[in-house]
Amino acid sequence: MVTPQLLIFDTHKELYLFGAMFFEHTAQQAVAKRGRFLVALAGGGTPRRLYELLADSSLVSNMPWGQTHVFWGDERCVPPDDAGSNFGQAKAVLLDKVDIPAGNIHPINGTLTPTASAKDYAQTLAKFANEGQAWPRFDLVLLGMGSDGHTASLFPGSDPAGQTPTLAVTANYQDRPANRVTLTPAVFNDAHNTLFLVTGKSKASALQAILQADPNKLQWPAQRIQPKNGKLIWLIDSEAGQHLLETSPK
Ligand code: 6PG
Repeated sequence: MVTPQLLIFDTHKELYLFGAMFFEHTAQQAVAKRGRFLVALAGGGTPRRLYELLADSSLVSNMPWGQTHVFWGDERCVPPDDAGSNFGQAKAVLLDKVDIPAGNIHPINGTLTPTASAKDYAQTLAKFANEGQAWPRFDLVLLGMGSDGHTASLFPGSDPAGQTPTLAVTANYQDRPANRVTLTPAVFNDAHNTLFLVTGKSKASALQAILQADPNKLQWPAQRIQPKNGKLIWLIDSEAGQHLLETSPK
């Protein structure tokens, strides 16, 4: 099992800057090694600032957008112009502002039923898989975490074991759309690099349990993210990391 690297930042500025530099560096490495960069984006509010930085070409000036293929780790089943659309957010904040070919953007279709959309996205993933595989090894997976310990749309109480690449999910969290599609741990755990972004004090207790308490994957879905052969890095702000600081030696 890979040991996660925990990076705790005093300021959001440093956290997001690190995230943007890591994203660009990972993309360059992937293109050098494999000729393309496959990334799965996260939804929710936390990555928004990262997407803004990635769109700033004075900061991120060597991003190989032409060889980048963008996917999503999960989606809410709403139209792309709905405020709850993960694709819609990334499009508005990032993808419309950079020189990425339209054919390199692979959203989960939020206008279908969750079941139909999950099936449709499994076919999209299969097109990028190596021979004999059902999904690609992502070069980078971005993930967030809810205050209940969910990640992507893997929610407490569900047991998405097995080799199905995508799942239809219905789950209520805050006032967000309940019908969703998510990639599964089987796909996430194949990635070369996984970057969690976790900020704010509402996440502190769940984060402490996920990283430092005994495993309980049914209660804490983020514990299901255990790359088989990849890097796992958590970018954490000091509020989200406040309970970790109490128990970890500095
Ligand atoms: C989604 C997500 C989800 C998100 C967390 C954290 O589609 O809702 O991908 O897993 O990352 O809910 O959301 P915030 O960043 O808004 O706290």
